Amino acid sequence: MGETTQGSLTPESIRELQDRAVAEAASATATPADLEAVRVRYLGRKGLLREMYSQLGVVAPEQRPIIGQLLNAARQTIEQALQGRPAAPAAPSRPAFDFTLPGRKLPRGRLHPINDTIEAIKDIFKRLGFEVAFGPEVELDYYNFEALNIPADHPSRDSFDTFFLHDDVLLRSQTSTVQIRTMENRRPPIRVIAPGKVYRPDTVDATHGFLFHQLEGLVVDEGVTMADLKYVLHEFARGLYGPDVKMRFRPSFFPFTEPSVEVDVSCFVCGGKGCSVCKRAGWIEILGAGMVDPNVFRYVGYDSERYTGFAFGMGVERVLMRRHGINDMRLLLENDLRFLRQF
Ligand code: DAH
Repeated sequence: MGETTQGSLTPESIRELQDRAVAEAASATATPADLEAVRVRYLGRKGLLREMYSQLGVVAPEQRPIIGQLLNAARQTIEQALQGRPAAPAAPSRPAFDFTLPGRKLPRGRLHPINDTIEAIKDIFKRLGFEVAFGPEVELDYYNFEALNIPADHPSRDSFDTFFLHDDVLLRSQTSTVQIRTMENRRPPIRVIAPGKVYRPDTVDATHGFLFHQLEGLVVDEGVTMADLKYVLHEFARGLYGPDVKMRFRPSFFPFTEPSVEVDVSCFVCGGKGCSVCKRAGWIEILGAGMVDPNVFRYVGYDSERYTGFAFGMGVERVLMRRHGINDMRLLLENDLRFLRQF
């Protein structure tokens, strides 16, 4: 006892073995097979550490607990060194990018049917020399009502008919506001259309919403007459519904036009014979229009002796619903792609 045949089981030799194993674990190229080889060489059943354990019996008894602890510590250190090198991100067995896969399809966006309809209407008016103008949706009472010659006791000024934010500030209930803003900002000749959102506290149903779209038009110049109005609106109707469409003007009233008309087109479904779309009338109302009231010119400082003009306004959803045969405008704002993708 006390003598070891190999004389190799000392704290130094254990330390040396441990260091070697840790170094090999660290420098292994880290494939699972490399690390496994290191493990087998040192920790395996016939490994170098196991061999040292087998020599414990020949160590002097008073040394045994110390050497035994050193061996256990060395085993733990080597195991940790091997675990600290996870073999997972090993050299990839296939390229990270597979060039043979088919490309990922990019979904193609499209215009919302409301914008698509506005674009179609704009195209027609642009060919007739119109520019596109815009105005704010949060608007002053002055532009929505007063300057449009809408008197203080007019029912549309009631809070049940308009969203008010403050006393004089509201959500515009018509795009006619842009008539005033355009005339304030420039001089005739004026030929603009103004598409945009308008708001009314209507109960939502198939044909009403608290938000919808209008498209306004305004022409002001010297010598503009009702004949110009009829020509432009007829061209518009032909552009939208085809060359054979007929038009009908009915006398009407709007505070900012005098005289005022409501304009119908012959039903583009039945051609005027009467069907469910035109409710057997043969005609479909598409817009309101008229000659600009001299009172409106007074608000913007135009000389109504020198200038005349006409204006018109239409509901975009109405045009759209007829165009695509949609009977419930709520569908347009639900953001349901199954619906929207049809256009
Ligand atoms: N602003 C009107 C409305 O919301 C529509 C309208 C009628 C506009 C006649 C016009 C017009 O420019 O001349 O009901």
